[in-house]
Amino acid sequence: MLPCCFFHSIGFILIVISITSCQNNSNNKTQTTNNSNPTFVDIAPILFKNCTPCHRAGESGPFELMTYADAKKNANKIKFVTQTGYMPPWPADINYTHFVGERKLSDAEIELIKTWVQNGAPEGDISKIEQVPVYYTGSFLGKPDTVIKFKDAVPIKGNGTDHFYVIKMPVQLAKDTFVRYFEFVPGQRKLAHHINGHLINYENGKKKNIQNGLTYALDEFSDYNALYSQMNILNDDTTFPALTPNTVYYLPGYTPPVYPIGIGGYKITKTSAILLKNIHYGPSDKDVLDSSYINIFYGPKPKRPVYETQLGTFGISKIEPELVLHPNKIETFHTQATLHNDISILSVNPHMHLLGKSFWAFAVTQKGDTIPLIKIKKWDFKWQYYYTYLHPVKISTGTTIHAYGTFDNTDKNPLNPNHPPKLVTQGEGLKSMQTTEEMFQFIFTYLPYQTGDEKMDLSK
Ligand code: HEC
Repeated sequence: MLPCCFFHSIGFILIVISITSCQNNSNNKTQTTNNSNPTFVDIAPILFKNCTPCHRAGESGPFELMTYADAKKNANKIKFVTQTGYMPPWPADINYTHFVGERKLSDAEIELIKTWVQNGAPEGDISKIEQVPVYYTGSFLGKPDTVIKFKDAVPIKGNGTDHFYVIKMPVQLAKDTFVRYFEFVPGQRKLAHHINGHLINYENGKKKNIQNGLTYALDEFSDYNALYSQMNILNDDTTFPALTPNTVYYLPGYTPPVYPIGIGGYKITKTSAILLKNIHYGPSDKDVLDSSYINIFYGPKPKRPVYETQLGTFGISKIEPELVLHPNKIETFHTQATLHNDISILSVNPHMHLLGKSFWAFAVTQKGDTIPLIKIKKWDFKWQYYYTYLHPVKISTGTTIHAYGTFDNTDKNPLNPNHPPKLVTQGEGLKSMQTTEEMFQFIFTYLPYQTGDEKMDLSK
């Protein structure tokens, strides 16, 4: 993890910068479609590329779009959401920066879908459809090497409040193993708000039985020593086992960033556990049980560890002015940090809650050049991706990273949990992660810079 002295945050400086937009977007190229009578044969490749990663069995999309029958049944809806730009979800502005897995339809593709639907969504000769994707059900990313499940389903009360749990998920393997990434798959997707999981590694012989003890407990934000002993987490000699923080992560819409082989990853000993501290469920209106699981993907020993840090809430830099959102106001906040080392940024993750309206981050070098990082014109709580750059972005010593977050605490914000709007703050301590309180964070992953990093292809 990053030592805090790595960055030095300096005071609030308002900088007005004109940003020139980036290279042309390769996805926006106008496709050759003078096709005035498209059939499903023309539409299927668009759906397979942009929709079925989510609109298939077991994934987040509310219906499947794998077959002609699926698409025909939902044709009008498909037309509507593509015309409005609601789907595929991609909050980042593609005229500002590009990322791996960018999902954006070209104007020609949107037109083609419209024509197809208006013509009655004809089927055509579907034997001509090439390359129907084959997915692995149960993971966004493919077949995991191992899956660990909640041992006991976790009860969520339908009392309209947030719930925080600490959960222990034992991992027992035949031998010590390297892991490329963990994928948390929520059972209750609509309620899973935020998950932070740490990896606990037990050294040889230090833990006889990790299965005993409570597997879940409400997080009361108080006596963790008592809790860990009830959960049987400590070594048998009551010392603390080695813990790697933030190995498992989840936010609505999130899938783990996947870096080239050798970049990032973890070692797990054959006796380990994932400690979710914590898992945060948003309010539910009925009693439900959650059975989530973690997919584990093995890999080789990492050559270069990936680090993560954040500006803003709980981060290395102060928010200016203080994050206090006044009722009936739209307000903008700023945070900045100056680097004391050369780094290569791999992924960025802007984070706000329901009052978020827009987000913008960029860096300014000592010479005054601007490096665009990410712009989200319309914040969407449901889609909080870790955006991975096509190539690492070099940020040199002395460069300052800036993030601006705008929050809408008016009645016009349909997601505002308070009517009439009320004063909203970061709250106290971890409780500020409640859905109804706010956060303003700019999280990013990076490598210490090495010559040639700019050329590394992160899409592979
Ligand atoms: C990253 C995952 C993801 C991708 C990619 C995606 N969707 Fe969705 N889609 C969802 C989720 C989750 C919902 C439900 C939540 C919502 O409405 O925002 C949804 C909702 C919808 C709805 C609205 C359903 C309703 O009745 O309100 C339609 C229609 C839809 N998607 C079509 C598409 C189409 C067409 C594409 C591709 C062009 C696509 N989606 C791409 C995840 C995705």
